[in-house]
Amino acid sequence: MPAALWQRLQLKLPVIQAPMAGGATTPQLVSAVCEAGALGFLGAAMLSPEQIREDAARIRARTSQPFGINLFVLDDPAPDAAVLREALESLRPWHAELGLKPPTAPGRYCQPFDEQLQALIELRPAAASFTFGILTAQQMAELRAADILVIGTATNLAEGLAWMELGADAVCAQGREAGGHRGTFIGEQRESLRPMLSLVYELAQNLPVPVIAAGGIMNGRDMAAAMRHGAQACQLGTAFLRCPESGIPELWKLALARAKAGDTCLTRAFSGRYARGLSNRYIEDMARCQERLPDYPVTNALTGPLRAAALKAGRADMMSMWGGEGVAEARELPVAELIAQLLAEWQAAYR
Ligand SMILES: Cc1cc2nc3c(=O)[nH]c(=O)nc-3n(C[C@H](O)[C@H](O)[C@H](O)COP(=O)(O)O)c2cc1C
Repeated sequence: MPAALWQRLQLKLPVIQAPMAGGATTPQLVSAVCEAGALGFLGAAMLSPEQIREDAARIRARTSQPFGINLFVLDDPAPDAAVLREALESLRPWHAELGLKPPTAPGRYCQPFDEQLQALIELRPAAASFTFGILTAQQMAELRAADILVIGTATNLAEGLAWMELGADAVCAQGREAGGHRGTFIGEQRESLRPMLSLVYELAQNLPVPVIAAGGIMNGRDMAAAMRHGAQACQLGTAFLRCPESGIPELWKLALARAKAGDTCLTRAFSGRYARGLSNRYIEDMARCQERLPDYPVTNALTGPLRAAALKAGRADMMSMWGGEGVAEARELPVAELIAQLLAEWQAAYR
């Protein structure tokens, strides 16, 4: 990473803790990462503007180090009535199994992106990153004016070029191994599944901005490989999920602890956007109709009650438990220890 950026982010090692919406990236996790010398990132996509302000204040109460905030670039959609009816019908048996009332459509499908972005700009974190879409030139200019570093997510070259042309400071190359949702916004999600090392290499060859590698990076050796392919930093998500500071439910942590290599798959059955997580009965059963479910965020909102009820009932067979291809290597360690080990392994990989 260019020395000026490195200094501005006060990094001791080229690690960015991936923003993980939905509760994993608590203020405790983000601040512990920053204190350990990496870049902590709040996954704020599911938070209201007020909650974003509160979490940022909690992070700032725990650390004076720079941190980042991440959002999904989304519009609140108006889904087709017939598609919506079919989706509700396909969720009905799962609701019945959990003793819930039949599913219904909510009034709103996602948080208002414009207001989230305004809150982010007011908060002036050191960095902001975006996925699922791209900003307008006006939004980019506002982030620039607030002196916020902008990172765009790319799953293919066209997306990397689009972010570069918009003026992003760095591009995060999300390989197919990555846990959580695919960031694809140009072309088909299923056709943007390049392995991390080859995507990093292609973007680093073609973009004049720093490339951040994401997807399956679990240790210092993986970091060194990504950096040899042209990455300037590495974004790790799954590696942080089992830390005590991570806010995911214990049931999910337990499933990660038991996971073997090969236990993850891509599904759009929970949210209407392809995402990688631990395979279970819901994913396997819904595979037959997942292509007909409405796009994110509609299906994500529709499955919200069933996912919450499954968690409450201890039913891992119906929960979404995102994780990358490296799940089996996630360590149950406090953040400070994990980062110290990553640093030692990364240095050892060059010796
Ligand atoms: C539980 C979970 C939630 C995620 N949520 C987000 C998110 O809110 N925003 C985002 O840009 N990426 C999100 N990601 C993707 C990460 O940014 C990154 O691409 C991924 O974690 C890298 O792969 P790895 O999990 O194998 O390290 C999420 C990943 C996971 C595992």
